[in-house]
Amino acid sequence: MQKKQKQEDDMEKVLCGIEKIKSQVLILPVFEGEKTIPELKDEKLKKLIEGILKSAGIEGKYKEIFFTVTNFENPRFIIFAGMGEEKSITYYDIQKIAGITGKLLSQKDIKNYGIFLRGNQDEGRAASAWLEGLLHGAYSYNEFKTEKADSHKKIERIFFYGIDKRSKEDIQQLLDRSELTLSKVNYYRDIINAPSNYMTPSKLAKVAENMAKRQKLRCKVYGLNEIKKMNMGGIIAVSGGSRQEPRFVEIEYSPPGYKKTLVLVGKGVTFDSGGISIKPWEGMDKMKYDMAGATAVIGALDIISSLKIPLRVIGLVPVVENLPGGSAYKPGDILKMYSGRTVEVISTDAEGRLILADALSYGLRYGPDAIIDIATLTGACVIALGHEASGVLGTDRELIELIKNAGEETGERVWELPLWKEYDELIKSDHADMKNVGGREAGTIQGAVFLKRFVDNTPWAHIDIAGTAWHDNDKQHAVSGATGWGIRLLLVTAEKFARTT
Ligand code: BES
Ligand code: ZN
Ligand code: ZN
Repeated sequence: MQKKQKQEDDMEKVLCGIEKIKSQVLILPVFEGEKTIPELKDEKLKKLIEGILKSAGIEGKYKEIFFTVTNFENPRFIIFAGMGEEKSITYYDIQKIAGITGKLLSQKDIKNYGIFLRGNQDEGRAASAWLEGLLHGAYSYNEFKTEKADSHKKIERIFFYGIDKRSKEDIQQLLDRSELTLSKVNYYRDIINAPSNYMTPSKLAKVAENMAKRQKLRCKVYGLNEIKKMNMGGIIAVSGGSRQEPRFVEIEYSPPGYKKTLVLVGKGVTFDSGGISIKPWEGMDKMKYDMAGATAVIGALDIISSLKIPLRVIGLVPVVENLPGGSAYKPGDILKMYSGRTVEVISTDAEGRLILADALSYGLRYGPDAIIDIATLTGACVIALGHEASGVLGTDRELIELIKNAGEETGERVWELPLWKEYDELIKSDHADMKNVGGREAGTIQGAVFLKRFVDNTPWAHIDIAGTAWHDNDKQHAVSGATGWGIRLLLVTAEKFARTT
């Protein structure tokens, strides 16, 4: 089942002017109200495009797409991509529109694309946004369809037309990075989409181990006995109801001369039935994506080490399956955690915080400059922010700002929720140091309040990706299922963190 990582290394990216179109497809951004494309040099093509703009009534509205065939050899097809008002376009908008075109083109057998980079944006960043969006949009998951469509059609060449401001080497470098990043993001989307009868805790640990091998990183996978020996009470309890043994994965990327250490912790619940506090059947199938935090950490480390970011990064991934078997943990149980603190279990469905707590306290042994955890932690976060932003909460202003900036830059946006000390009351327990749930109110904040207890005074932030890691429905710019959200966010956060003093 485990697939070889798709290599898109041999996709050629050609940067050139707009004098001559050399691709089968021309993706042509159209801004609102445009009647012509003044930069076009080829008069015949320009006339044709003016005619289509008029006769097809193309207005250039954001996300308006028009696909047409021509009599030319190149371009044989033109996609008019409505961009909206020129002055208000963001790189994130570009990514989305690129996603739409990528999804559209992935259904056709086209080997080479061309994108006309128009507008006032920085050419490098715009080119990257186009490439990342295209590759993200062209993704589909057909692993278990017996009559397979050729799911990952290969793009042999992409032309970027209209480059004349920035140096081509510069842009080429950015594009190489985007291509690498997206090939990894799409690889990890496969891992998240894989059903939990295939992607068991031991399999997911193997994914991490294989990545570490490829990147020559130190990696240790702890099994049940070792986890018991370490007294990781959260991981032991949550995994108790399943025949699948838990794993605890530790990966270290340690470049020579590093100055700072960042610990990344990712929630790896390969399936969350809720345990004894069982979930309703509707939507339970989706709970195979409850390990998207884990893949975000593994994926980020994969790219961080490829790009040789000058920062020591430790990845910690607790992996379990949450089932209501005969030896499952139960509401009312009191657990002794790795840190020695005790937790009263109110709901076995609030399992993510229990396994993360052990990993967070374990991470303190590195004396990190910061710890970030990422998790599909609460349904409440989906209610609060929907699918457009992940929740972020934490104890360190600078770290949170860094994550917010990384979110704006990558399009993987985050929105901060408060973590005022008044909320601490919510998880007070009569019988233990704390309880894992304190009622229905402020659900996402409660998760963070709980985790905060396990990081001592280390600068820490928590990212809740419950709403962003998965799309229930097919979108115009992407298929339903895993989004890969979090990988780029952590990557850029790590880069920024390496630069701070
Ligand atoms: N994995 C879920 C959170 C989740 C819900 C992720 C929906 C993605 C979509 C988590 O383990 C959970 O079940 N949380 C409970 C917490 C509650 C018992 C306090 C929830 O959100 O309902
Ligand atoms: Zn749960
Ligand atoms: Zn869960």
